Amino acid sequence: MKKIIALSIGVIVAATLGFSAAAVAQKKHAPKPVWGAMVGGLIDLQSITAAMMVFDMKRAATIAEGLQKRETYISNIARLPEPVRKGHGKVAEAATKLVAAAKSGEEQDVAKALSGVMQACNACHYDLRDAERRKKMK
Ligand code: HEC
Repeated sequence: MKKIIALSIGVIVAATLGFSAAAVAQKKHAPKPVWGAMVGGLIDLQSITAAMMVFDMKRAATIAEGLQKRETYISNIARLPEPVRKGHGKVAEAATKLVAAAKSGEEQDVAKALSGVMQACNACHYDLRDAERRKKMK
């Protein structure tokens, strides 16, 4: 049991470092508060994946709840432009499904719901950020 816990912590730490490094390696960074929220979401996705892989559904549900709350909070910040609030609202909705899936203990549902969250992240990047990047891909 101790071994499994140590292993899962190792996976989470390694994966978190790997992912943040990938995000930090990007040439263009978002403004600081946005950057923090984005990387926070990224770390949540990673940690939930690690928890799912060792069937720690309680941990998966707790992290998903944190993600859900953060995204809901952002979606309610009145001074943010409408598309930004809407995009984060979509992530919050997807995270609600993820919480339910983690609480049910069905890992296939958790995997699908995780994918739903990523699709909500990507939908926003696709529209608001990556059109230019796509053009330059070749
Ligand atoms: C409302 C739209 C929107 C949503 C929703 C959104 N993002 Fe982003 N994200 C952006 C934009 C725009 C940028 C780039 C900002 C810039 O380059 O100035 C970005 C940047 C990022 C970055 C790079 C940060 C950096 O500058 O190094 C990461 C990582 C990221 N997002 C992860 C996520 C994850 C994970 C989610 C979902 C949990 C998510 N984002 C949801 C719009 C969004």
